[in-house]
Amino acid sequence: MAPMTRSFSPGGIPTADVATYYEKRAQGEVGLILSEGTVIDRPSASNDANVPHFYGEQALAGWQRVIDGVHAKGGQMGPQIWHMGIMDNHHSGWVPPVPFEGPSGLNRPGNNNGTTMTEKDIEETILAFGKAAVDAKKAGFDCVEIHGAHGYLIDQFFWEGTNLRTDSYGGKTLVERTRFATDVIKEVRKQVGEDFAVIIRLSQFKPSEYTYKLANTPQEMEAWLQPLVDAGVDILHCSQRRFWEPEFDGSDLNFAGWAKKLTGKATITVGSVGLTGDFFGAFAGESSQPSSLDELTRRMDRGDFDLVAVGRPILADPNWVTKIKAGQTGELKGFTKEALGELIME
Ligand SMILES: Cc1cc2nc3c(=O)[nH]c(=O)nc-3n(C[C@H](O)[C@H](O)[C@H](O)COP(=O)(O)O)c2cc1C
Repeated sequence: MAPMTRSFSPGGIPTADVATYYEKRAQGEVGLILSEGTVIDRPSASNDANVPHFYGEQALAGWQRVIDGVHAKGGQMGPQIWHMGIMDNHHSGWVPPVPFEGPSGLNRPGNNNGTTMTEKDIEETILAFGKAAVDAKKAGFDCVEIHGAHGYLIDQFFWEGTNLRTDSYGGKTLVERTRFATDVIKEVRKQVGEDFAVIIRLSQFKPSEYTYKLANTPQEMEAWLQPLVDAGVDILHCSQRRFWEPEFDGSDLNFAGWAKKLTGKATITVGSVGLTGDFFGAFAGESSQPSSLDELTRRMDRGDFDLVAVGRPILADPNWVTKIKAGQTGELKGFTKEALGELIME
C-alpha cells in the first residue's frame, strides 16, 4: 500500500479509526503497508493540524495501536516519516507555530513562504528523522520509509530551483545537493542498526512541475541515487504518476527499472497501477476505472522492480488485493473523489 495522507488524526494523534483503517488493509492481504506521511518533531514540519505526528507520547501511542492491529492480522508496516519543508498555507487557515523552514525559503522557484534553515536547524532536523526511525523500530514496525519525494523538504534540497544555498548543503551539482538526504539516511541507519529495512521515496516530478526531471540521463540518475545507497538505504521507492512511462529515450524502463539497473538495489514502482487515471487527476476530482495489470506483470516478470505500491485502489477498497488474487475483477471499485473524504473500512 502506497503512503497516502488522510488528515484524520486531529492534533496529530492517530485515532482508533485510523488503526482500524490500516488493520482492514492487513486483513485484506496487503503484503506491506506504508503509512500516510507522518511528521517528525520539528515545529513547522506540517501545514495541516490533522496530519499525524510521529513524536510525542499520545501520537506514538496511537501508532502503537496501528502496528499492533496490523500485526494481529498478519500484515507488515512501516511509517513514512516526513517533513514538509516550505509549504503553501493550508486551505483550513491553520498555520504551524513558527514559519515553514527549508533550504532557501522556497517551495518552488520564486515562491518564498518561510525561512532558510541554519546549520543548527539542519542538524536538529536530521536528528529528528533519526529519532522517528528508532521510535518506529521500538514500536515494532517492520521498516521505515523516508519521504524524499514530491517537492517536500528533502526534495527541496535536491532541486536546484529551491536550493540556492552556497554552503555544503547546496551546490551546482545534484551530487552536492544530495548531502542533506545522505545525512538523514546515515542518521536513520545509525539509529535503527543494520537489521532494519530503510526505504527512501523519490520522485523526479514536482507537484508544481509535473514534467520536471532532476536527472535527465542515466548518468545523472546514478549520480543522484548512488550517494543515497552508499549512505545506507535498502530500497528505492520510485514515485511516478504512471508506472508505464519510460524514464529516458531509447528504453522502455521506468524510474524503478532504471534505479534498480543503475544501483542494483531493490526498488518499488508505483503510479496508476490498476487504474485508468493518475492521482493528480484524482485531486482535481476525476474518477478512474479499473484497468488491466498485464503491462505491470510483464515488467515485474522481466525483473524491472521488486515491489509494487498501490495507492488509490487500496484507499478505496481494503479488499483490493484479495479480489485481484481471486481474479474477481468484476468486483473492483475504481476510484471516485468521494473516497478521499472518508476512511473506508469495508
Ligand atoms: C489521497 C492521497 C494522499 C497521498 N499522500 C501521500 C503521502 O503522504 N506521501 C507520499 O509519498 N505520497 C502520497 N500520495 C501519492 C501516493 O503514494 C501514490 O504515489 C499515488 O497516489 C500514485 O499511486 P496510485 O496511482 O496507485 O494512487 C498520495 C496520494 C493520494 C491519492
